[in-house]
Amino acid sequence: MGTSTSTSQLAGGARKSLVIVWVAILAVGAYFVIASIPYYLVWNAANYGPYYWPRSAILLPHLLGGLFAIVIGPFQFWSRIRNNHPKVHRISGRVYLISVAVGGVAGLLMAFTSDVNFVYASGLASLAIAWLLTSGMAFFAIRRRNFVQHKRWMIRSYVVTFAFVTFRVVDDVLSYYEIGEDAVRWGILAWACWAVPLLLTEIVLQGRQLSRS
Ligand code: HEM
Repeated sequence: MGTSTSTSQLAGGARKSLVIVWVAILAVGAYFVIASIPYYLVWNAANYGPYYWPRSAILLPHLLGGLFAIVIGPFQFWSRIRNNHPKVHRISGRVYLISVAVGGVAGLLMAFTSDVNFVYASGLASLAIAWLLTSGMAFFAIRRRNFVQHKRWMIRSYVVTFAFVTFRVVDDVLSYYEIGEDAVRWGILAWACWAVPLLLTEIVLQGRQLSRS
């Protein structure tokens, strides 16, 4: 009796912490999406500026794909929707994957045409490939009806989607403390914004599995 009460208290505590983590993630994500996207939705040279305007036909589908993916992603992890409305989960999952495909291919083209430096461009090109591969694996797993692998690859995919926000959060903190020149910081962050969170995700996913074995 005592043991089952403390077990359910632990489960309740873990659920609460998870909700707090999700709320924090969504609040930071919403802030950066609202701060950086809206004015690109008005398609003119003044809003895009001289750096992005010549590539605006690629940037627009890129940011629309990214916007859909970043907004839809969290709903895919919501177990109540998944269990009670599987059709909604399936349709929004397809929209998520199409958004990643559009955003990822356009992101790759943006990386190839970026002017910052080679480390930055290659980091973002690799980020685009990681985005397409992790999401592609989630799709492949669900086609094979492998639900465990599907969930894991969706977690990795969303961690990569969120690199857009991770980059900006860390960049703002570093530039606030005047750490590193812009081009150096951006070059490092183009790689670190997805590689480090993916490594941490792997430690959590594999660690959980190890602790159960
Ligand atoms: C996760 C994979 C992503 C990749 C590989 C990627 C790649 C890129 C690249 C290469 C650029 C142009 C950089 C330059 O030319 O210097 C860019 C800019 C941009 N991307 Fe992404 N991106 C990703 C995710 C996202 C997401 C999820 C969003 C939206 C929520 C987004 C919105 C934007 C915006 C608004 C810009 C232009 C303005 C800015 O830099 O703030 N991207 N992206």
